[in-house]
Amino acid sequence: MESVRQTFEEKGQGQVFAHFDSLSEDEQKVLAAEAAEIDLEELDQLVSGLVKGSGSKNEDIADSLAPAEFIPLPDAENGNPALWEEALKKGEAALRAGRVAAFTVAGGQGTRLGYDGPKGTFGVTPVLQKSLFQVFAEKILASSKIYGKPIPWYILTSVINHDETVAFFEENDYFGLPSEKVHFFSQGLMPAVDGEGKILLAEKGRIALSPDGHGGALRALVRSGSIREMEADGIDIISYFQVDNPLVRCIDPAFIGFHLLNHSELSSKMVPKAYPEEKVGVFCEKDDAALVVEYSDLPERLAQEKDDAGNLRFRAGSIAIHVFDRNFIERLGSGNDESARLPFHLANKKVAYVDSDGNTINPDEPNAFKFEMFVFDALPFAKNPVIIETAREDDFSPVKNAEGVDSPQTSRDDQLRQYARWAKAAGIELDTDDTGVPRVNFEVSPLFGDNAERFAASWEALSHKPALADGLVLV
Ligand code: UTP
Repeated sequence: MESVRQTFEEKGQGQVFAHFDSLSEDEQKVLAAEAAEIDLEELDQLVSGLVKGSGSKNEDIADSLAPAEFIPLPDAENGNPALWEEALKKGEAALRAGRVAAFTVAGGQGTRLGYDGPKGTFGVTPVLQKSLFQVFAEKILASSKIYGKPIPWYILTSVINHDETVAFFEENDYFGLPSEKVHFFSQGLMPAVDGEGKILLAEKGRIALSPDGHGGALRALVRSGSIREMEADGIDIISYFQVDNPLVRCIDPAFIGFHLLNHSELSSKMVPKAYPEEKVGVFCEKDDAALVVEYSDLPERLAQEKDDAGNLRFRAGSIAIHVFDRNFIERLGSGNDESARLPFHLANKKVAYVDSDGNTINPDEPNAFKFEMFVFDALPFAKNPVIIETAREDDFSPVKNAEGVDSPQTSRDDQLRQYARWAKAAGIELDTDDTGVPRVNFEVSPLFGDNAERFAASWEALSHKPALADGLVLV
């Protein structure tokens, strides 16, 4: 313990131990263990480069950016249905061969939603209020049945929500999935610092730590041994999605097929941006590499620019759905390849802290900096990256905010619209409003149907067809 304390003092971070002598022996051990996990060399570099550095953010990137190419939907003007058919077959074969794992990043703190609990336990479906985790579990189970192979599911947590997440699955019998196929592991933590780069204390004996961003998923997959486990199980394709998006196709055979046909290390889905200011990152190309430029970094002139057909030129919005090659994750996540490291980004946040007198200060304004890695920063390092178009209404409706855009309400409406589209395509008469939301509140389990065709087949097979009325649940 003494040596950790000494190192911190030598590095100008002695304030972490300011109240050490007033702590019990157990508390001292906890603090020393937290401190020992912090890489002070790395932190020093981040503080001098990001917190104190000029952070060359204003460099004009406009001239070096081009829009990234993407594969349009099969029914788009320049779409290629035969190619999509080929991709579908390829992806289905990989699923039947048991090469695919699902991977959800659920280590975030979900502060905008303001819900007290891991976000995956938040209820989202229109009738039963099934949790996000249950929705994904049923989708994964449905795919496992279709392709005849159990699909392992890896879930990234953080130490802040890990135990609660695991307990939720246990209480709910893993929603019908074989428990040995569901794997939980925690991501790394980074300390919050003040404007001088000094590490903040959350309590006298606890450091202010927060998850290292969804980009931390890659090193967590390696550190936790998950990548080795996948290799032993013959898994080389990892289907990545975020915990907040109930519409996501957790397992999408055509997407997996495109990834394989192109020998891609990292594949991504895009949706055309709804309007120039939409707050999504945009797929671009720079120096012959693909990358995602955050909405806040995309120069206004480019965000507004139109092509000859009148579409936004930089329209390929990133919706955080990817397929990763296992070896690629190992290369980036192990940190062995010096030339392929995810950078950290800085977030200026309000962080409550304990001052040198032992008082807890709750700031009104952002007072601290957190460090996060972003998973899409892996893109420039990937060989043969592929971007495919997807229909927003069938893949993307995140729950981010308590109200307004990307909220439980918008996501519920989007789920209902999808059920209504499937029902109508199956020949069922259904009254909807102008935006496609049905007048009755009903729900379709992914186990009944996870797309229009399978919905229609299950509906057809029903000997007694119920009326689509309020409260109906099709399972
Ligand atoms: P968001 O960027 O929406 O962050 O995460 P968040 O923490 O969930 O929510 P806010 O910003 O505090 O409101 C997008 C996805 O990345 C995961 C989240 O769990 C979510 O699935 N994530 C984010 C992590 O797994 N780890 C992190 O450190 C951050």
